[in-house]
Amino acid sequence: MLKTLAPLGAVFVSAATALALGERHDTPSTTTTIPYLGDCTTSTTLTGCSGQVTVVVQTPIAVPACTTTATSTAPPTSTPTPGGACLLIDPFCKPAGLDIEYYANPMGGYSSGNPPSSYYLTQGLRPLDSSLTNVTFFPQNTNPVGLERIYPYPPLPNAPYFVGWQRETNGGVVVDANNFTLVYQGFYRARKTGTHAICASADNEDDVFFGHGNAFSCLDGKASANAQPLLVATGASLINGVICKDVDLVSGLYYPVRNVMGNWQGGSAFNFTVKEPDVALEDRTHDFAGRVYPSKCGLLF
Ligand SMILES: *[C@@H]1O[C@H](CO)[C@@H](O)[C@H](O)[C@H]1NC(C)=O
Ligand SMILES: *[C@@H]1O[C@H](CO)[C@@H](O)[C@H](O)[C@H]1NC(C)=O
Ligand SMILES: *[C@@H]1O[C@H](CO)[C@@H](O)[C@H](O)[C@H]1NC(C)=O
Repeated sequence: MLKTLAPLGAVFVSAATALALGERHDTPSTTTTIPYLGDCTTSTTLTGCSGQVTVVVQTPIAVPACTTTATSTAPPTSTPTPGGACLLIDPFCKPAGLDIEYYANPMGGYSSGNPPSSYYLTQGLRPLDSSLTNVTFFPQNTNPVGLERIYPYPPLPNAPYFVGWQRETNGGVVVDANNFTLVYQGFYRARKTGTHAICASADNEDDVFFGHGNAFSCLDGKASANAQPLLVATGASLINGVICKDVDLVSGLYYPVRNVMGNWQGGSAFNFTVKEPDVALEDRTHDFAGRVYPSKCGLLF
């Protein structure tokens, strides 16, 4: 079987799937079209072990380092728009969950008002732990009893740090319950077209970044320290206001999303939710099994 493919974009035919999965080529036909992003074209020929399956995939699978002519042209229409979806996603990537990363955050640090949520980027911090999660929720807790108290934060001499206090968050990540930062990031794949409400509540703070160039760049996967959050949810003393913002999404597209959740002292809580069109606010969810993907699914990074 040989398919001659359209010059624009990369087209994966069912045989490519069959080849990758080691299946027979009589699998039902599916075609995934990835919009062309780039200014040159290369071709790759894959030959099946049986010799029966030949697939020509016109790439770039990743935008290659190719020489370009100096003629100036309008940018390709498939360039991701700020705040929008990423167009080049690995078609074999599974919805394995969002990346969750745990960062140091000293008492009186992020979520107390200063520093900003970009601190883990500007300070070049390395995660203390990382995992994957489909769930973006952990319940409110309160100060523990029976643990030794110390007072390591001079500006608030009465604010206790409980020695040995830990809590489980998501993806099996266990943190210093007194003070910590968690970054949840990856792709949200919309199941519906229309207005979605992105909502968050947190003790002490969750900064939500959304879309290309805001959560991270579709071109290199990097988050910018200058990005302004779509929304900021703050809370303390068991009062965590829910903040929502509307975004217009297109079914099937992969939207970068990034939460920077922090707790600077005492109890903590977190709830990041998405309300799909035609779903009641109370029926929104923080369990995204099947529709969230790790950042590494981006084809360009
Ligand atoms: C929590 O704060 C204390 C005191 O500032 C610090 O020693 C500790 O490393 C912090 N924990 C984390 C996870 O950042
Ligand atoms: C958390 O989000 C769910 C929706 O996923 C909502 O029903 C629930 O009321 C929220 N709970 C808290 C404590 O914010
Ligand atoms: C997330 O959900 C998908 C689909 O159910 C599942 O395959 C994946 O293992 C889940 N990831 C985690 C971290 O639980």
